[in-house]
Amino acid sequence: MSEGSFPKAYKDGFKEFFGRDFLVSSDVLIPRPETETAIEIILSLAGKPYINGVTVPERVLPEKPRILDVGTGSGCIAITLKLELPEADLYACDVSSAALKIAMENAKKLTADVEFVKSDLLDNIDGHFDVIVANLPYVDRNWPWNSGIEHEPELALYAENGGLEIIYKLLEQVEHRTKYLILEADPVQHEKIISKAKSQDMECLEIRGYQLLFRVLSES
Ligand SMILES: C[S@@+](CC[C@H](N)C(=O)[O-])C[C@H]1O[C@@H](n2cnc3c(N)ncnc32)[C@H](O)[C@@H]1O
Repeated sequence: MSEGSFPKAYKDGFKEFFGRDFLVSSDVLIPRPETETAIEIILSLAGKPYINGVTVPERVLPEKPRILDVGTGSGCIAITLKLELPEADLYACDVSSAALKIAMENAKKLTADVEFVKSDLLDNIDGHFDVIVANLPYVDRNWPWNSGIEHEPELALYAENGGLEIIYKLLEQVEHRTKYLILEADPVQHEKIISKAKSQDMECLEIRGYQLLFRVLSES
């Protein structure tokens, strides 16, 4: 892996995501633009246009959807969703206490009412959701194109089994827990994830950039 300089966002102490500044420290992944697409997909499911002039898509979520963000890191996904969809109930979890501390600071700074829980995937999470969204670690340590990420937390980046281990574990947990699942992964991993999801009774509805949208068929 080639060495990159210390990231500007860590020096500045914040990074912009979906038009808002989020506090970041070396305990959390720096929010990425490709993750904003997950927000756009969920706003579409909620029937909310996110670009001026775009036709309002059909709403498939209830008026007060329950949404869970797994692996919340800085909290950028959950907090943005609460601010864009104030009527939604937002929950967020992470296995890292240090990351949750930053996420809670961001929620306070941006005045977003999100419930944060320390949990290894869904282990400490109760209840049923309309949407589970997850940007979990998916980097394979052996990818030759890994560069400029060595200052970010290993826990936020790497997973075994070609980067797929943690995503596969979540796929095994979501049956009867959600109607829709949105996962971020590198496009080189999408085919394998779609195939694993199919074996868990999920249908891939859309691939947008790094994001995969699934419908959990046991819910329909
Ligand atoms: C790629 S970062 C994403 C952070 C944030 N959601 C974002 O999009 O910028 C992955 C996050 O998942 C957390 N994580 C790793 N393994 C986990 C697990 N088994 N259960 C819950 N969270 C986990 C890491 O601590 C990290 O904060």
